[in-house]
Amino acid sequence: MAPPSILRDTEDGSESDMGENYADINWEGLSFSLTQTDYMHVMKCTKGEKFSQGSLIRYGNIEISPAAGIINYGQGIFEGLKAYRTEDGRILLFRPEENALRMKMGADRLCMPSPSVEQFVDAVKQTVLANKRWVPPPGKGTLYLRPLLMGTGAALGLAPSPEYTFLIYCSPVGKYHEGGRLNLKVEDKFHRSIAGSGGTGGIKSVTNYAPIYTAVTEAKANGFSDVLFLDSATGKNIEEATACNIFVVKENDIFTPAIDGSILPGVTRKSIIDIAIDLGYKVIERSISVEEMMSADEVFCTGTAVVVTSVASVTYKETRAEYKTGAETLSQKLQGILVGIQTGCIEDKKSWTVQVD
Ligand code: COI
Repeated sequence: MAPPSILRDTEDGSESDMGENYADINWEGLSFSLTQTDYMHVMKCTKGEKFSQGSLIRYGNIEISPAAGIINYGQGIFEGLKAYRTEDGRILLFRPEENALRMKMGADRLCMPSPSVEQFVDAVKQTVLANKRWVPPPGKGTLYLRPLLMGTGAALGLAPSPEYTFLIYCSPVGKYHEGGRLNLKVEDKFHRSIAGSGGTGGIKSVTNYAPIYTAVTEAKANGFSDVLFLDSATGKNIEEATACNIFVVKENDIFTPAIDGSILPGVTRKSIIDIAIDLGYKVIERSISVEEMMSADEVFCTGTAVVVTSVASVTYKETRAEYKTGAETLSQKLQGILVGIQTGCIEDKKSWTVQVD
């Protein structure tokens, strides 16, 4: 790992605590919201070149041209991953190279250069170390890292940006969904992505996210936790919720929509599939109709932010289906194993975790 170049100054002029102690915040009250931390990592490159050495700078606003590709034409992608503090004082990342590879896939789709897997993982590690005091104590939350890759060069015409910025900031977070059990509404008016491989549903393009606000705002106003989108070609098959993949359990089989270009290839999704297969379950990746889901035994969502969250009900038009939730469910079992590995409580036989310090 390259030695971190860290600015040690603080706004009040004192030397910063580079992470031996905890930040002075209420660790009991974390939610999934932004808490400003000390440092962010920034790396730039010009079109046609490769990313090289980045650096850590104080967390803060960035200066950007009003003609930047990200602002004008949405040339940007993001990632999300977490750092976990273990009971024995280590800090772990979970499969960060998967996020790096997914960022590369998105970058290729949007005509952007991307950091190498090594640069990505190294930058994540540096960001965590520089913000170590913001990694929550075990059991209180995680440090959420948000890598961004964006066209930051100025250009008026519709063309790839002349300059790119890779930036990672972070925030300590708690649960994404407070209640822990979701009541989903099947969205039958708006779609999340274009069906098939022609669209951008399979990458973490920034442009995939704001368009969900209309649907989710309306759903929340009607008491739902989130919406579940249907495929745009037939309007019959489930795709994913606003920030997570979906799984359906029927008898002893587990179903999830196949990665077909419109489904985000979630790192948690992939890990849960592997864990379930190891436990002896059959996992079937294919199209799943709303009707099939309505008659399932159990439904759950997966994602970095949501981890594994049970779905208590799904409402489609006038029909509401209710599902098994609670301690005896498969989702709880899978969640326990996943979080156990992520937090170092369960042996990591697959070498999924990466120690930071
Ligand atoms: C994540 O799970 O990391 C996400 O990207 C969700 C985000 C939209 C809040």
